Amino acid sequence: MCGIVGYVGKQKASAILLEGLKRLEYRGYDSAGLAVEHDHKFEIAKKVGRVEILAKLAAQQRLSGTTGISHTRWATHGGVTDANAHPHVSSDGRFAIVHNGVIENYVGMRKFLIGKGYTFASETDTEALVNLIAYHYQKESARPDTSRFLESVRKTLHHVEGTYGIAVLCTDQPGEIVAARKGSPLILGVGDGEYILASDVAALISRTQNVVYLKDGEIVHITPKNFSITTLDLTDVSPVIDRVAWTVEDADLGRFAHFMEKEIFEQPAALENAMRGRFSEDQSSANFGGLNLTPADFRQIDRFQFCACGTAWHACLVAEHLIERFARVPVEVDYSSEFRYRNAPLYSNTLFFVISQSGETIDTLAALREARRKGYKVMAICNVVGSTIAREADGGIYQHAGPEIGVASTKAFTSQILIAAMFALYVARMRDMSFSDGVQYVQALKQAPDLVRKALEQAPRIKEIAKRYARHRDFLFLGRLSLFPLALEGALKLKEISYIHAEGYPAAEMKHGPIALISETCPTVFFAPKGEIFNKVVSSVQQIKARKGKTIVIATEGCEFPPGLADEIITIPDCHEAVLPIVAAVPVQLLSYYIAAELGRDVDKPRNLAKSVTVE
Ligand code: AGP
Repeated sequence: MCGIVGYVGKQKASAILLEGLKRLEYRGYDSAGLAVEHDHKFEIAKKVGRVEILAKLAAQQRLSGTTGISHTRWATHGGVTDANAHPHVSSDGRFAIVHNGVIENYVGMRKFLIGKGYTFASETDTEALVNLIAYHYQKESARPDTSRFLESVRKTLHHVEGTYGIAVLCTDQPGEIVAARKGSPLILGVGDGEYILASDVAALISRTQNVVYLKDGEIVHITPKNFSITTLDLTDVSPVIDRVAWTVEDADLGRFAHFMEKEIFEQPAALENAMRGRFSEDQSSANFGGLNLTPADFRQIDRFQFCACGTAWHACLVAEHLIERFARVPVEVDYSSEFRYRNAPLYSNTLFFVISQSGETIDTLAALREARRKGYKVMAICNVVGSTIAREADGGIYQHAGPEIGVASTKAFTSQILIAAMFALYVARMRDMSFSDGVQYVQALKQAPDLVRKALEQAPRIKEIAKRYARHRDFLFLGRLSLFPLALEGALKLKEISYIHAEGYPAAEMKHGPIALISETCPTVFFAPKGEIFNKVVSSVQQIKARKGKTIVIATEGCEFPPGLADEIITIPDCHEAVLPIVAAVPVQLLSYYIAAELGRDVDKPRNLAKSVTVE
């Protein structure tokens, strides 16, 4: 997704803008650009390619201004070209803009503006926006009590259908930025005599931990001395300054080759953070401060509905298994993008959950809004404090997993599963789970970080396996019950960072079609946990072997796997069934990571993907 960074302060803006863009690279993009304002003129550098290419281009220019805006573009309207890269400048040269989102009515805007003599140098929807601002500015008369700059942006946004996060410069108003959001995140960093605007905290955390989260429909006017926020209909907003809980070191790579590798190994700490302060005093249940529902409210709930996308949707499938297994309450799971349009019949006493690491996924935000429109309360399990989904939900549970920079979600996924396991306990203890069973369950969850540490010890062995299997073009991942979602997750991880085709299935389903794929060139990854289905999985492995398929088996310690049946065996520690999906995630995360690294893929910024999908 596009990234925005803006700066108003005393330092040279270009260096700060470039540093901020580097920290937004993980969001996925195809071109980058910046504009600084100096002596009532714009100095602009923009180019297809990585931020380092932009930095080289910028180094050839003076770019001496202390106010500027910058952008990483993930193409929606218009191809990947230098001309379509942001910033865009109005044809009268007075305004420069960067934009994240989609202007749905830009074609009509262009026609109107061309009729007024404005010209266009790109195919983007954004250029229509900046020319419309220029148009309103021309019409706006200067008044002592209002900013003509702010008013022209505000009036323009009233005409917009679609989504935006924008930052705008004006040559008549040096040292000022006007920014606004609707559907695309914008955060204002309040520094020491400076302001940093960004799509994501990671871009400003190196300069300040004091932030204001802009809400949809708000517009901020930043000047060298202060900032003010109003709504589009001119209602003043008193800004709330939050303090970000993490530091720039958390967003640094440290000793790791990629953020994905770092985040895989951060999982024990992320799991500890998810549990911190969230067990009842008698250690037999869980406590969540942000659900904003009383036990009496929960007594009325007799169904849960979960919505999410991608990996978060896999976490919903695990949540379904855990809540139905331990709390005996039915759970429905939907892709966010499907739920918002399929008009499913809903049960009255349903509590909705959405799961989203970024808290900005537009399909999940839309599903939340659709459920709330129908009068349902929605809880959000999110990793980004102050994100749009977190703020629009009726309550929720923050993951506190720390920033997840790698596009492929890892620590956020296992953190989501742990929170789901804790929630299942919370509900189960309000129903039929006994005190002693609750105490045992809590003790099992508390072991999760160490069990993941033990699973991570297999990393060198998994790296060796990855080297041997990296050139295959197809993989099958098979799992049952709570590990079927892990089969889906393993396939998704492999697909999204190594570009190898992979599919996840319930293990028994392979007989109904996928087994036709089996050959020596299509390895199968099996989850084979100890328990009542172990022998069933063994027989599935036998069926694969009988067809010369290669088998990589992920088995819990202590399982006697018939010799010669598995080409590779990766062991994971034996554990409580509520923790099993968390521990089982580690080998498939590592396998996909090492295969992608072996293939030399851009692991943290895989092609075509974005960390947070904020456009439909
Ligand atoms: C997972 O590795 C992918 N990056 C993607 O499927 C992701 O899980 C999905 O886009 C949902 O993102 P969210 O959790 O931020 O809503």
